[in-house]
Amino acid sequence: MGLLARYAPLLPLTASTPSVNLEEGNTPLIRLPRVGEQLEIDLWGKFEGCNPSGSFKDRGMVLAVAKALEDGARALICASTGNTSASAAAYAAATGLPCYVLLPAGRVALGKLAQALIYGATVVAVRGNFDRALELAREAAKERGFAMVNSVNPYRLVGQRTGAWEVCDALSAAPDWHAIPVGNAGNVSACWAGYTEYRRLGKIPKTPRMMGFQAAGAAPLVTGRPCPDPETVATAIRIGNPVSADLARAAITESGGEFNSVTDEEILSAQRLLASFGGVFAEPASCAPLAGLVKLKRLGRLPRDIRVVMVLTGNGLKDPDTAMKQAGRPIEVGDTLKELLSVLRPGGVR
Ligand code: F0G
Repeated sequence: MGLLARYAPLLPLTASTPSVNLEEGNTPLIRLPRVGEQLEIDLWGKFEGCNPSGSFKDRGMVLAVAKALEDGARALICASTGNTSASAAAYAAATGLPCYVLLPAGRVALGKLAQALIYGATVVAVRGNFDRALELAREAAKERGFAMVNSVNPYRLVGQRTGAWEVCDALSAAPDWHAIPVGNAGNVSACWAGYTEYRRLGKIPKTPRMMGFQAAGAAPLVTGRPCPDPETVATAIRIGNPVSADLARAAITESGGEFNSVTDEEILSAQRLLASFGGVFAEPASCAPLAGLVKLKRLGRLPRDIRVVMVLTGNGLKDPDTAMKQAGRPIEVGDTLKELLSVLRPGGVR
């Protein structure tokens, strides 16, 4: 069952909202004992890479596209660092809407670009960064009367609340900390709204601290001012002027949480840690929270034994290039048993 059906009573659906469904949501909440042990916490990862287009964006996109259809939209448009475009293109394909996506030229991970193209969207590479592409998309949407499906579309953020609801439904409570990467700052805001709504409905007794993590080269919410030239290996969150900055600041303040930044090196090291000690392959942006937890542990600022849920926002397979740069290489041998055995240690190695 997709998200619109599963959470219907909590979503702004009407009798004329079409049922759109790619079986999004219901993603695994994975306990990560070998990683958690190192940090001395009870660590869980919400693996959003299992969504149909491989990221959490499908949660909000399914609702935004259903509402666009209900409102008689002629086409969808968005700007994206990659995942929003993949998701918009997928739902456009499934519902028959034309879809235009604006990407920062040369700055989108290969898998995401392949997705937008193969789903059949019209892909426009803008020679500029994401922030500029977003401004252009908003103007073009107005000019052409297309449905804008970036997170400035309120239905996107409402749909993304389901991520927090699923965490609570699985644990029968909220975690102590909800650790999440922050780019355009929509998801941290949406998850916080999800938790507060669940508390209001009496489904959870208390809400978590929202811990938002940005890449050091694109950390406007940590430094307190827009970053005109964002740069990071985590291209999904290479954003200098987040549209939902105010909502995100409110979420962090109300929940007693924090914004922190992590370097590219810390992000890549966390990606290796998550893959090689957790068995979960997430894209670089998704590993910013783990990088942040490792950093806070090192600084003596990670309380022992707390329960932390990290949102692993996107699938690692979307960005094979970055992974291969740090993953090592296969050992090549000739096709004889002798050569094969020469590289296999009797006790195994790890
Ligand atoms: N993680 C991934 C994998 C993302 O793709 C994004 C955002 C984020 C985290 C940050 O979420 O923007 O709600 O704070 N990607 C957008 C896109 C910007 O275009 O795909 P946010």
